[in-house]
Amino acid sequence: MSRTKRLLLVFGTRPEAVKMCPLVGQIQSRPALECQVCVTGQHRQMLDQVLDAFGVTPDFDLDVMRPEQSLAQLTGAVLAGMERVLDAAAPDMVLVYGDTTTAFTAALAAFYRRLPVGHVEAGLRTYDMARPWPEEFNRRAITLISQYHFAPTDQARENLLGEGVPPERVYVTGNTAIDGLATTVREDYVNPLLDWAAGSRLVLVTAHRRENLGPPMEGMFRAIRRVTDAHPDVKILYPVHMNPAVRAPAREILGGHERIRLTEPLDVVDFHNIMARSYLILTDSGGIQEEAPSLGKPVLVMRQTTERPEGVRAGTLRVVGADEQTVAREFSRLLDDPAAYAAMARAVNPYGDGRASERIADILEKTE
Ligand code: UD1
Ligand code: UDP
Repeated sequence: MSRTKRLLLVFGTRPEAVKMCPLVGQIQSRPALECQVCVTGQHRQMLDQVLDAFGVTPDFDLDVMRPEQSLAQLTGAVLAGMERVLDAAAPDMVLVYGDTTTAFTAALAAFYRRLPVGHVEAGLRTYDMARPWPEEFNRRAITLISQYHFAPTDQARENLLGEGVPPERVYVTGNTAIDGLATTVREDYVNPLLDWAAGSRLVLVTAHRRENLGPPMEGMFRAIRRVTDAHPDVKILYPVHMNPAVRAPAREILGGHERIRLTEPLDVVDFHNIMARSYLILTDSGGIQEEAPSLGKPVLVMRQTTERPEGVRAGTLRVVGADEQTVAREFSRLLDDPAAYAAMARAVNPYGDGRASERIADILEKTE
Protein backbone atom coordinates (compact mmCIF):
# COMPACT_ATOMS: atom_id res chain seq x y z
CA MET A 1 0.00 0.00 0.00
CA SER A 2 1.45 3.41 -0.96
CA ARG A 3 1.88 5.72 2.02
CA THR A 4 0.37 9.20 2.13
CA LYS A 5 2.46 12.14 0.98
CA ARG A 6 3.23 14.57 3.81
CA LEU A 7 2.86 18.17 2.70
CA LEU A 8 3.85 21.17 4.78
CA LEU A 9 2.14 24.41 3.70
CA VAL A 10 3.90 27.52 5.01
CA PHE A 11 2.47 31.05 4.92
CA GLY A 12 2.53 34.14 7.09
CA THR A 13 0.80 37.21 5.68
CA ARG A 14 -2.79 38.11 4.85
CA PRO A 15 -2.59 37.61 1.07
CA GLU A 16 -0.80 34.27 1.35
CA ALA A 17 -3.47 33.07 3.76
CA VAL A 18 -6.34 34.24 1.52
CA LYS A 19 -4.89 32.21 -1.33
CA MET A 20 -3.51 29.19 0.59
CA CYS A 21 -6.58 28.44 2.72
CA PRO A 22 -8.61 27.13 -0.27
CA LEU A 23 -5.67 24.80 -1.03
CA VAL A 24 -5.54 23.63 2.59
CA GLY A 25 -9.20 22.56 2.26
CA GLN A 26 -8.54 20.70 -0.98
CA ILE A 27 -5.47 18.86 0.35
CA GLN A 28 -7.26 17.91 3.56
CA SER A 29 -10.00 16.27 1.49
CA ARG A 30 -7.52 13.92 -0.29
CA PRO A 31 -6.76 10.63 1.47
CA ALA A 32 -3.45 10.29 -0.42
CA LEU A 33 -2.20 13.62 0.95
CA GLU A 34 -1.40 14.58 4.51
CA CYS A 35 -1.65 18.29 5.25
CA GLN A 36 0.31 20.17 7.89
CA VAL A 37 0.06 23.95 8.13
CA CYS A 38 2.81 26.21 9.48
CA VAL A 39 2.13 29.93 9.85
CA THR A 40 5.06 32.21 10.54
CA GLY A 41 2.92 35.01 11.96
CA GLN A 42 4.79 37.56 9.80
CA HIS A 43 1.42 39.30 10.05
CA ARG A 44 -0.41 38.67 13.29
CA GLN A 45 -3.85 40.27 13.40
CA MET A 46 -4.29 40.39 9.62
CA LEU A 47 -3.30 36.73 9.30
CA ASP A 48 -5.54 35.57 12.14
CA GLN A 49 -8.52 37.35 10.53
CA VAL A 50 -8.13 35.13 7.46
CA LEU A 51 -7.52 31.91 9.40
CA ASP A 52 -10.72 32.57 11.35
CA ALA A 53 -12.70 33.33 8.20
CA PHE A 54 -11.63 30.05 6.52
CA GLY A 55 -11.65 28.00 9.75
CA VAL A 56 -8.02 26.89 9.36
CA THR A 57 -6.10 25.92 12.52
CA PRO A 58 -2.31 25.82 12.03
CA ASP A 59 -0.22 22.92 13.32
CA PHE A 60 2.76 25.24 13.88
CA ASP A 61 2.92 28.98 14.57
CA LEU A 62 6.32 30.72 14.62
CA ASP A 63 4.74 33.96 15.87
CA VAL A 64 7.63 36.06 14.52
CA MET A 65 6.01 39.51 14.24
CA ARG A 66 7.81 42.13 16.37
CA PRO A 67 7.37 45.92 16.40
CA GLU A 68 9.70 47.84 14.04
CA GLN A 69 11.29 44.59 12.83
CA SER A 70 13.73 44.83 9.88
CA LEU A 71 13.56 42.46 6.92
CA ALA A 72 16.84 40.87 8.07
CA GLN A 73 15.44 40.22 11.57
CA LEU A 74 12.24 38.81 10.08
CA THR A 75 14.20 36.56 7.72
CA GLY A 76 16.43 35.31 10.55
CA ALA A 77 13.48 34.53 12.80
CA VAL A 78 11.62 32.60 10.10
CA LEU A 79 14.73 30.65 9.06
CA ALA A 80 15.53 29.60 12.63
CA GLY A 81 11.90 28.73 13.34
CA MET A 82 11.59 26.67 10.16
CA GLU A 83 14.48 24.42 11.27
CA ARG A 84 12.46 23.33 14.28
CA VAL A 85 9.27 22.92 12.27
CA LEU A 86 10.96 20.82 9.58
CA ASP A 87 12.31 18.53 12.32
CA ALA A 88 8.88 18.10 13.86
CA ALA A 89 6.82 17.90 10.67
CA ALA A 90 9.22 15.72 8.61
CA PRO A 91 7.49 16.67 5.35
CA ASP A 92 7.99 15.07 1.93
CA MET A 93 7.44 18.46 0.30
CA VAL A 94 7.11 22.10 1.37
CA LEU A 95 4.58 24.37 -0.36
CA VAL A 96 4.98 28.15 -0.34
CA TYR A 97 2.97 30.93 -1.94
CA GLY A 98 3.97 33.96 -3.98
CA ASP A 99 6.73 36.35 -3.00
CA THR A 100 6.77 37.37 0.65
CA THR A 101 9.70 37.09 3.05
CA THR A 102 7.90 34.16 4.65
CA ALA A 103 7.66 32.33 1.32
CA PHE A 104 11.28 32.99 0.35
CA THR A 105 12.67 32.03 3.75
CA ALA A 106 10.56 28.89 4.12
CA ALA A 107 11.73 27.80 0.66
CA LEU A 108 15.34 28.48 1.66
CA ALA A 109 14.95 26.44 4.85
CA ALA A 110 13.58 23.54 2.79
CA PHE A 111 16.44 23.90 0.28
CA TYR A 112 18.98 23.65 3.10
CA ARG A 113 17.34 20.33 4.02
CA ARG A 114 17.29 19.19 0.36
CA LEU A 115 13.51 18.95 0.54
CA PRO A 116 11.40 19.45 -2.60
CA VAL A 117 9.57 22.79 -2.78
CA GLY A 118 6.32 23.51 -4.61
CA HIS A 119 5.75 27.16 -5.51
CA VAL A 120 2.14 28.27 -5.79
CA GLU A 121 1.63 31.45 -7.85
CA ALA A 122 4.93 30.93 -9.66
CA GLY A 123 6.24 32.96 -12.57
CA LEU A 124 4.95 36.47 -11.79
CA ARG A 125 7.54 39.04 -12.86
CA THR A 126 8.10 42.75 -13.40
CA TYR A 127 11.80 42.17 -14.21
CA ASP A 128 12.52 45.24 -12.09
CA MET A 129 14.27 44.21 -8.87
CA ALA A 130 13.24 47.48 -7.18
CA ARG A 131 9.51 47.14 -7.88
CA PRO A 132 7.97 45.54 -6.01
CA TRP A 133 10.71 45.43 -3.42
CA PRO A 134 11.73 42.97 -2.05
CA GLU A 135 9.11 40.74 -3.69
CA GLU A 136 10.65 40.55 -7.17
CA PHE A 137 13.82 39.09 -5.63
CA ASN A 138 11.85 36.75 -3.38
CA ARG A 139 9.86 35.18 -6.18
CA ARG A 140 12.83 34.78 -8.49
CA ALA A 141 14.83 33.14 -5.69
CA ILE A 142 11.91 30.80 -4.93
CA THR A 143 11.88 29.79 -8.61
CA LEU A 144 15.54 28.81 -8.36
CA ILE A 145 14.79 26.63 -5.34
CA SER A 146 11.52 25.01 -6.44
CA GLN A 147 10.89 21.71 -8.18
CA TYR A 148 7.16 22.24 -8.82
CA HIS A 149 5.96 25.55 -10.29
CA PHE A 150 2.20 26.19 -10.15
CA ALA A 151 1.77 29.08 -12.58
CA PRO A 152 -1.54 30.94 -12.49
CA THR A 153 -1.54 31.94 -16.19
CA ASP A 154 0.10 31.14 -19.54
CA GLN A 155 2.05 34.39 -19.25
CA ALA A 156 3.53 33.26 -15.92
CA ARG A 157 4.45 29.93 -17.52
CA GLU A 158 6.19 31.73 -20.40
CA ASN A 159 8.20 33.78 -17.90
CA LEU A 160 9.39 30.60 -16.20
CA LEU A 161 10.28 28.83 -19.44
CA GLY A 162 12.20 31.94 -20.51
CA GLU A 163 14.31 31.54 -17.38
CA GLY A 164 15.12 27.94 -18.19
CA VAL A 165 12.65 26.15 -15.92
CA PRO A 166 11.93 22.72 -17.49
CA PRO A 167 8.45 22.73 -19.08
CA GLU A 168 7.48 19.44 -17.41
CA ARG A 169 7.88 21.15 -14.01
CA VAL A 170 5.45 23.99 -14.79
CA TYR A 171 1.71 23.53 -14.32
CA VAL A 172 -0.81 26.22 -15.35
CA THR A 173 -3.54 25.99 -12.74
CA GLY A 174 -5.27 29.39 -12.46
CA ASN A 175 -4.92 31.47 -9.31
CA THR A 176 -6.29 30.19 -6.01
CA ALA A 177 -7.39 33.80 -5.26
CA ILE A 178 -10.37 33.14 -7.51
CA ASP A 179 -11.20 29.92 -5.60
CA GLY A 180 -11.54 32.02 -2.43
CA LEU A 181 -13.91 34.55 -4.04
CA ALA A 182 -16.34 31.79 -4.93
CA THR A 183 -16.91 31.06 -1.24
CA THR A 184 -16.94 34.61 0.18
CA VAL A 185 -19.13 36.77 -2.09
CA ARG A 186 -22.83 36.44 -1.25
CA GLU A 187 -25.99 37.94 -2.71
CA ASP A 188 -27.60 38.63 0.67
CA TYR A 189 -24.58 40.34 2.26
CA VAL A 190 -25.28 43.38 4.46
CA ASN A 191 -22.93 45.73 6.32
CA PRO A 192 -23.41 49.14 8.02
CA LEU A 193 -20.51 50.46 5.90
CA LEU A 194 -22.66 49.84 2.81
CA ASP A 195 -25.56 51.68 4.48
CA TRP A 196 -23.19 54.61 5.07
CA ALA A 197 -22.24 54.61 1.37
CA ALA A 198 -25.78 54.15 0.02
CA GLY A 199 -26.61 56.74 -2.66
CA SER A 200 -22.93 57.56 -3.28
CA ARG A 201 -20.29 56.11 -5.52
CA LEU A 202 -18.19 53.97 -3.19
CA VAL A 203 -14.46 53.98 -3.88
CA LEU A 204 -12.36 51.37 -2.09
CA VAL A 205 -8.74 52.24 -1.31
CA THR A 206 -5.83 50.12 -0.04
CA ALA A 207 -2.09 50.84 0.07
CA HIS A 208 0.95 49.21 1.63
CA ARG A 209 3.83 48.62 -0.84
CA ARG A 210 7.23 49.32 0.69
CA GLU A 211 8.50 51.19 -2.37
CA ASN A 212 5.51 53.57 -2.00
CA LEU A 213 6.15 54.37 1.69
CA GLY A 214 6.99 58.03 2.36
CA PRO A 215 6.54 60.73 -0.32
CA PRO A 216 4.84 58.57 -3.01
CA MET A 217 2.20 57.37 -0.57
CA GLU A 218 1.65 60.87 0.80
CA GLY A 219 1.15 62.10 -2.78
CA MET A 220 -1.36 59.32 -3.47
CA PHE A 221 -3.32 60.24 -0.36
CA ARG A 222 -3.33 63.98 -1.20
CA ALA A 223 -4.62 63.14 -4.70
CA ILE A 224 -7.43 61.02 -3.25
CA ARG A 225 -8.50 63.76 -0.84
CA ARG A 226 -8.43 66.43 -3.54
CA VAL A 227 -10.54 64.42 -5.99
CA THR A 228 -12.99 63.45 -3.25
CA ASP A 229 -13.42 67.12 -2.33
CA ALA A 230 -14.32 67.86 -5.96
CA HIS A 231 -16.89 65.02 -6.23
CA PRO A 232 -19.68 65.34 -3.64
CA ASP A 233 -21.29 62.04 -4.70
CA VAL A 234 -18.13 60.02 -3.89
CA LYS A 235 -17.41 58.25 -0.62
CA ILE A 236 -14.07 56.65 0.16
CA LEU A 237 -13.70 53.50 2.25
CA TYR A 238 -10.11 52.78 3.21
CA PRO A 239 -9.31 49.82 5.49
CA VAL A 240 -5.83 50.88 6.57
CA HIS A 241 -2.97 48.33 6.56
CA MET A 242 -1.47 47.84 10.04
CA ASN A 243 2.03 48.98 9.10
CA PRO A 244 2.64 52.11 11.25
CA ALA A 245 4.43 53.71 8.27
CA VAL A 246 1.10 53.54 6.40
CA ARG A 247 -1.16 54.43 9.30
CA ALA A 248 0.49 57.75 10.18
CA PRO A 249 0.18 59.45 6.75
CA ALA A 250 -3.25 57.89 6.17
CA ARG A 251 -4.59 59.47 9.34
CA GLU A 252 -2.83 62.75 8.79
CA ILE A 253 -3.80 63.29 5.14
CA LEU A 254 -7.14 61.48 4.83
CA GLY A 255 -8.48 61.76 8.39
CA GLY A 256 -11.29 64.13 9.49
CA HIS A 257 -13.21 64.11 6.18
CA GLU A 258 -16.94 63.34 6.39
CA ARG A 259 -16.92 61.34 3.14
CA ILE A 260 -13.69 59.42 3.84
CA ARG A 261 -13.92 56.47 6.20
CA LEU A 262 -10.68 55.01 7.57
CA THR A 263 -11.23 51.61 9.19
CA GLU A 264 -9.24 48.70 10.58
CA PRO A 265 -8.37 45.99 8.01
CA LEU A 266 -11.59 44.27 7.02
CA ASP A 267 -12.31 40.62 7.46
CA VAL A 268 -11.82 38.97 4.05
CA VAL A 269 -15.53 38.12 3.71
CA ASP A 270 -16.39 41.78 4.33
CA PHE A 271 -13.67 43.00 2.01
CA HIS A 272 -14.69 40.77 -0.89
CA ASN A 273 -18.38 41.61 -0.53
CA ILE A 274 -17.72 45.34 -0.29
CA MET A 275 -15.36 45.14 -3.25
CA ALA A 276 -18.16 43.47 -5.22
CA ARG A 277 -20.42 46.46 -4.42
CA SER A 278 -17.89 49.25 -4.92
CA TYR A 279 -17.76 51.65 -7.89
CA LEU A 280 -14.01 51.47 -8.38
CA ILE A 281 -10.80 50.60 -6.53
CA LEU A 282 -7.52 52.45 -5.99
CA THR A 283 -4.75 50.19 -4.74
CA ASP A 284 -1.11 49.14 -4.83
CA SER A 285 -2.05 45.61 -3.72
CA GLY A 286 -1.19 42.53 -5.76
CA GLY A 287 -4.07 40.25 -4.81
CA ILE A 288 -6.74 42.88 -5.40
CA GLN A 289 -5.54 43.15 -9.01
CA GLU A 290 -6.52 39.49 -9.41
CA GLU A 291 -9.85 39.64 -7.61
CA ALA A 292 -11.25 42.87 -9.08
CA PRO A 293 -11.31 41.79 -12.76
CA SER A 294 -13.55 38.82 -12.04
CA LEU A 295 -15.90 41.16 -10.15
CA GLY A 296 -15.87 43.67 -13.04
CA LYS A 297 -14.45 46.47 -10.89
CA PRO A 298 -12.08 49.01 -12.46
CA VAL A 299 -8.76 49.29 -10.64
CA LEU A 300 -6.29 52.16 -10.75
CA VAL A 301 -3.01 50.49 -9.79
CA MET A 302 -0.93 53.02 -7.85
CA ARG A 303 2.43 51.50 -8.83
CA GLN A 304 4.97 52.01 -11.63
CA THR A 305 4.73 48.44 -12.90
CA THR A 306 2.67 45.33 -12.40
CA GLU A 307 3.38 41.61 -12.49
CA ARG A 308 -0.27 41.11 -13.44
CA PRO A 309 -0.35 42.24 -17.11
CA GLU A 310 -3.30 39.94 -17.84
CA GLY A 311 -5.72 42.29 -16.05
CA VAL A 312 -4.24 45.30 -17.86
CA ARG A 313 -4.68 43.57 -21.22
CA ALA A 314 -8.24 42.63 -20.27
CA GLY A 315 -8.92 46.33 -19.64
CA THR A 316 -9.91 46.21 -15.95
CA LEU A 317 -6.56 47.41 -14.55
CA ARG A 318 -4.79 50.67 -15.36
CA VAL A 319 -1.28 51.23 -14.00
CA VAL A 320 -1.09 54.90 -13.02
CA GLY A 321 2.00 55.14 -10.78
CA ALA A 322 2.10 56.92 -7.46
CA ASP A 323 2.64 60.49 -8.65
CA GLU A 324 0.10 62.86 -7.06
CA GLN A 325 -0.90 64.69 -10.26
CA THR A 326 -1.27 61.50 -12.28
CA VAL A 327 -3.31 59.70 -9.63
CA ALA A 328 -5.58 62.77 -9.32
CA ARG A 329 -6.00 63.05 -13.09
CA GLU A 330 -6.75 59.35 -13.69
CA PHE A 331 -9.08 59.12 -10.69
CA SER A 332 -11.04 62.21 -11.85
CA ARG A 333 -11.21 60.92 -15.40
CA LEU A 334 -12.72 57.63 -14.31
CA LEU A 335 -15.30 59.45 -12.20
CA ASP A 336 -16.17 62.04 -14.88
CA ASP A 337 -16.05 60.01 -18.11
CA PRO A 338 -18.77 57.35 -18.29
CA ALA A 339 -17.29 55.82 -21.46
CA ALA A 340 -13.85 55.41 -19.86
CA TYR A 341 -15.53 53.85 -16.81
CA ALA A 342 -17.70 51.49 -18.87
CA ALA A 343 -14.67 50.32 -20.85
CA MET A 344 -12.99 49.16 -17.63
CA ALA A 345 -16.05 47.85 -15.75
CA ARG A 346 -16.33 44.51 -17.50
CA ALA A 347 -16.10 41.22 -15.68
CA VAL A 348 -13.26 39.20 -17.15
CA ASN A 349 -11.45 36.24 -15.76
CA PRO A 350 -7.80 36.09 -16.71
CA TYR A 351 -6.84 34.39 -13.44
CA GLY A 352 -8.81 31.17 -13.65
CA ASP A 353 -12.14 29.53 -13.02
CA GLY A 354 -12.04 29.02 -9.25
CA ARG A 355 -10.65 25.47 -9.50
CA ALA A 356 -6.94 26.17 -9.13
CA SER A 357 -6.66 24.44 -5.73
CA GLU A 358 -8.36 21.35 -7.08
CA ARG A 359 -5.88 21.18 -9.98
CA ILE A 360 -2.89 21.67 -7.68
CA ALA A 361 -4.11 18.91 -5.36
CA ASP A 362 -4.60 16.60 -8.39
CA ILE A 363 -1.00 17.23 -9.45
CA LEU A 364 0.35 16.75 -5.92
CA GLU A 365 -1.37 13.37 -5.74
CA LYS A 366 0.48 12.26 -8.88
CA THR A 367 3.97 13.64 -8.23
CA GLU A 368 6.67 11.31 -6.87
C1 UD1 B 1 4.10 42.04 3.59
C2 UD1 B 1 4.86 41.43 2.40
C3 UD1 B 1 4.27 41.92 1.08
C4 UD1 B 1 2.77 41.72 1.04
C5 UD1 B 1 2.13 42.36 2.27
C6 UD1 B 1 0.65 42.09 2.29
C7 UD1 B 1 7.27 41.06 2.65
C8 UD1 B 1 8.62 41.66 2.61
N1 UD1 B 1 6.23 41.89 2.43
O1 UD1 B 1 4.36 43.44 3.55
O2 UD1 B 1 4.87 41.21 0.02
O3 UD1 B 1 2.28 42.32 -0.13
O4 UD1 B 1 2.71 41.79 3.44
O5 UD1 B 1 -0.02 42.92 3.18
O6 UD1 B 1 7.13 39.89 2.89
N2 UD1 B 1 1.55 44.75 11.09
C9 UD1 B 1 0.80 44.57 12.23
N3 UD1 B 1 -0.17 43.58 12.24
C10 UD1 B 1 -0.41 42.80 11.17
C11 UD1 B 1 0.36 42.99 10.00
C12 UD1 B 1 1.34 43.96 9.99
O7 UD1 B 1 0.96 45.25 13.22
O8 UD1 B 1 -1.30 41.94 11.22
C13 UD1 B 1 2.59 45.80 11.09
C14 UD1 B 1 3.83 45.41 11.89
O9 UD1 B 1 4.34 46.58 12.49
C15 UD1 B 1 4.79 44.94 10.81
C16 UD1 B 1 4.45 45.91 9.68
O10 UD1 B 1 3.02 46.04 9.74
O11 UD1 B 1 6.14 45.04 11.19
C17 UD1 B 1 4.88 45.49 8.31
O12 UD1 B 1 4.55 44.13 8.09
P1 UD1 B 1 5.47 43.22 7.11
O13 UD1 B 1 4.88 41.87 6.98
O14 UD1 B 1 6.89 43.31 7.50
O15 UD1 B 1 5.40 43.97 5.71
P2 UD1 B 1 4.16 44.36 4.83
O16 UD1 B 1 4.44 45.74 4.32
O17 UD1 B 1 2.90 44.06 5.50
N1 UDP C 1 -8.00 42.17 1.98
C1 UDP C 1 -8.75 41.94 3.13
N2 UDP C 1 -9.06 42.98 3.96
C2 UDP C 1 -8.65 44.26 3.70
C3 UDP C 1 -7.86 44.49 2.53
C4 UDP C 1 -7.54 43.42 1.71
O1 UDP C 1 -9.17 40.82 3.39
O2 UDP C 1 -8.96 45.16 4.49
C5 UDP C 1 -7.65 41.03 1.12
C6 UDP C 1 -7.86 41.21 -0.38
O3 UDP C 1 -9.15 40.82 -0.79
C7 UDP C 1 -6.79 40.31 -0.98
C8 UDP C 1 -5.66 40.39 0.04
O4 UDP C 1 -6.24 40.83 1.26
O5 UDP C 1 -7.23 38.96 -1.00
C9 UDP C 1 -4.61 41.36 -0.44
O6 UDP C 1 -3.71 41.59 0.58
P1 UDP C 1 -2.66 42.76 0.55
O7 UDP C 1 -3.14 43.88 -0.31
O8 UDP C 1 -2.33 43.06 1.97
O9 UDP C 1 -1.37 42.07 -0.08
P2 UDP C 1 -0.83 41.85 -1.57
O10 UDP C 1 -1.87 41.15 -2.33
O11 UDP C 1 -0.47 43.19 -2.11
O12 UDP C 1 0.40 41.03 -1.37
